[in-house]
Amino acid sequence: MNNSPRSVRGMHDWLAEKCADAERLERCARAIFSCFGYGEIRTPIVEELGLFARALGETTDIVEKEMFLLSARDSSQAPEWVLRPEGTAGVVRACLEHKLLQPGTIQKLFYMGPMFRAERPQAGRYRQFVQLGAESFGNAAPSADAESVVLLYELLRAFGVTGAIVRLNSLGCANCRPRFHAELKQFLESKAQTLCRDCQRRMAKNPLRALDCKKDAEFLSAAPRAADFLCAECGTHHQQFLQFLTAALIPFEESARLVRGLDYYTRSVFEVYASGRDGAQDALAAGGRYDKLVEEFGGYPTPAVGFALGLERVMNFLASQEEKKPPQRQGVFVITLGDAARNEGFAILQELRRAGIVADGVINAQSLKSQMRLANAKLFRWAVLIGENELNEGSLMLKDLEKSEQEKITRTALLEKIS
Ligand code: HAM
Repeated sequence: MNNSPRSVRGMHDWLAEKCADAERLERCARAIFSCFGYGEIRTPIVEELGLFARALGETTDIVEKEMFLLSARDSSQAPEWVLRPEGTAGVVRACLEHKLLQPGTIQKLFYMGPMFRAERPQAGRYRQFVQLGAESFGNAAPSADAESVVLLYELLRAFGVTGAIVRLNSLGCANCRPRFHAELKQFLESKAQTLCRDCQRRMAKNPLRALDCKKDAEFLSAAPRAADFLCAECGTHHQQFLQFLTAALIPFEESARLVRGLDYYTRSVFEVYASGRDGAQDALAAGGRYDKLVEEFGGYPTPAVGFALGLERVMNFLASQEEKKPPQRQGVFVITLGDAARNEGFAILQELRRAGIVADGVINAQSLKSQMRLANAKLFRWAVLIGENELNEGSLMLKDLEKSEQEKITRTALLEKIS
């Protein structure tokens, strides 16, 4: 056992129960995305390396140290590709490649799929994880920021996440952010001795990253706040965003320290936490506005806002809330005894399945006892027994494994009895 192969750390197999849970959430999400007018987009898992450095920023944690790099077999060549660490950059790339962002159009897209980050694995933080994301292009109005948050909140509500809380902030725009950056840089420089190594290094290039630092969190509480530097347009945008959320009855908190770990954001940023659980790794979802990214990628100036939700984090949260229910028995296990009964048993099995009933059976020479053991282990509700007697009589023995009762029935009465 000890030298059997294992999955890569931070990457997990999903067994049947988890797949069924995920499928339920994904189905539910599709219906909600569709109600909000979002169409699906699927982009490749592998993208060119430069895409993320350009979109997320050279000094972000993801680009500096969390990307899985790929190169062709020739290891002397520098890596060219990367396993996507997030969905937004690929969606913007695809929109431009397929000319979906013409001036004046609104484009709303959703995606679901695996993302990869070479993070130190821990509870709720994986190296492969699934994001459900939504990106809305072409609407600069604060109603679009609010729609994005409302959509996210509706998804969580439909999944059964109650009491989620939205934290939000505004990072300003190209007009007002430089003044905030300058003040922040000055503040950081005055504390340079106490800053951690990462922050010291990043201070000059990207002072905003320091606000995201967990190590220096305590003394950074005195740092300048983006909200105090907003220009009139950003201030109005933010107030209207909050008014829309209030009108839509979305519970939110303003959070001056929220800066997000990616550089493409302008104005609104938000994160959603399950109530009572607020370690940074517990954000169930996050997003914001990124009005410059399309243009930076060579497209027409196109305002944009979106979010991504971590499916595993939501599933972990739901599992932690769920009261342990006793396992539900369901379906029919067909047990045959003796050579002659096997054809009949096999035919019954297919008949049940065709009628949409969960049915199984081994249809082989195993003893009654071992077939019964399988039926119980797999939590079937019913066992149908066919031996030589039943075959001759056109009957079946139907056992209710939940109630420990049994009765002899005619072959034709089976479907009616179990449905
Ligand atoms: P993000 O905050 O990096 O944003 O990730 C969004 C969500 O993905 C997180 O809130 C979390 O639920 C989940 N997530 C992130 N990393 C991990 C991990 N290592 N393990 C498990 N779950 C994780 C983005 O990715 C942006 N693209 C969101 C966005 C879309 N902004 C605008 N549009």
